[in-house]
Amino acid sequence: MDINQAIAQLDWQKEPRGLYEPIAYTLASGGKRLRPTLALLGTELFGGKEEEVLPAALALEVFHNFTLLHDDVMDRADVRRGRATVHVKWNDNTAILSGDQMMIEAYKLLGQVKEDKLPQVLRWFNQMATEICEGQQYDVDYESREDVRMAEYTEMIRLKTSVLLGNALQTGAYIAGADQESTAHLYNYGIHLGLAFQIQDDLLDVYGDEKTFGKAIGGDILCGKKSFMLLTALHTADAQTKEELKYWLARRDAEPKEKIRAVTALYDRLDVRSEAEKAIREHTDAAINELSYLPANAAREQLQALAEKLANRSN
Ligand code: IPE
Ligand code: IPE
Ligand code: MG
Ligand code: MG
Ligand code: MG
Repeated sequence: MDINQAIAQLDWQKEPRGLYEPIAYTLASGGKRLRPTLALLGTELFGGKEEEVLPAALALEVFHNFTLLHDDVMDRADVRRGRATVHVKWNDNTAILSGDQMMIEAYKLLGQVKEDKLPQVLRWFNQMATEICEGQQYDVDYESREDVRMAEYTEMIRLKTSVLLGNALQTGAYIAGADQESTAHLYNYGIHLGLAFQIQDDLLDVYGDEKTFGKAIGGDILCGKKSFMLLTALHTADAQTKEELKYWLARRDAEPKEKIRAVTALYDRLDVRSEAEKAIREHTDAAINELSYLPANAAREQLQALAEKLANRSN
């Protein structure tokens, strides 16, 4: 099943255009389609039928894209997947309302899951959705806190990013009739994969190539995100470097390019990038370790290859 083809078949030719056009625009803008891929692999791993997981896979991608519309408003991000974000191309109200509608569309798709599996799938989905909101709130809260610990950061990214990946895999496995223990291992694979994924996202926000990454470089620096990069810098800097870092963070009036250049230079000096790469490697290894408890087949091979590929991604 080509997931892009299935997404392209969703119909947004409805009125009012102001509501549905931004949805079509977003879903046609590409992206890695990671969550539906994980749902499909979760089912394949346990020999389930692809068509039975497809509604949930689509629901997860639509839901993910909804979170991006709202996230880009919250982060004042202007570019995604190499295109203007919805709140820039239209406005904030459009991003809010089309985003709301995408969440509803996600639930409609999820409602197509086979009746005997639906109650559990829905319970898990709701728990995951709540956890993402909680993670997003911590993410915002931490912008204005100076004493965020690494453990708090890890929990925040587990909530805002990992649980969606874990849910996709868990749901795929459950629909295929997997046993509880295996499903839990697969979920844990998703959690570690997600932690590595978000740390890599934080790294690329500083060191990525704008064209390949599809997002503006330095966005996290400009909004004072307690990213892996900033926290590592704050925790490892000597007194003088820490003062310099704090000086730049406090300069909200600074010329954006100048601020990004200055903070990046401090990250360079502290070799924050190596720390991030180390953490990505550790979570990738932890994810792959979970796979050893799962059926050794082609889907498992793909999950292992995917973890390696994501650890080295540039988009
Ligand atoms: C972006 O997710 C949000 C994060 C969790 C970092 P992706 O990097 O999977 O975005 P797309 O769907 O591929 O564009
Ligand atoms: C994304 O975190 C988490 C969610 C969208 C829920 P980011 O804010 O780092 O994602 P990007 O970098 O905008 O894709
Ligand atoms: Mg963002
Ligand atoms: Mg964000
Ligand atoms: Mg990011």
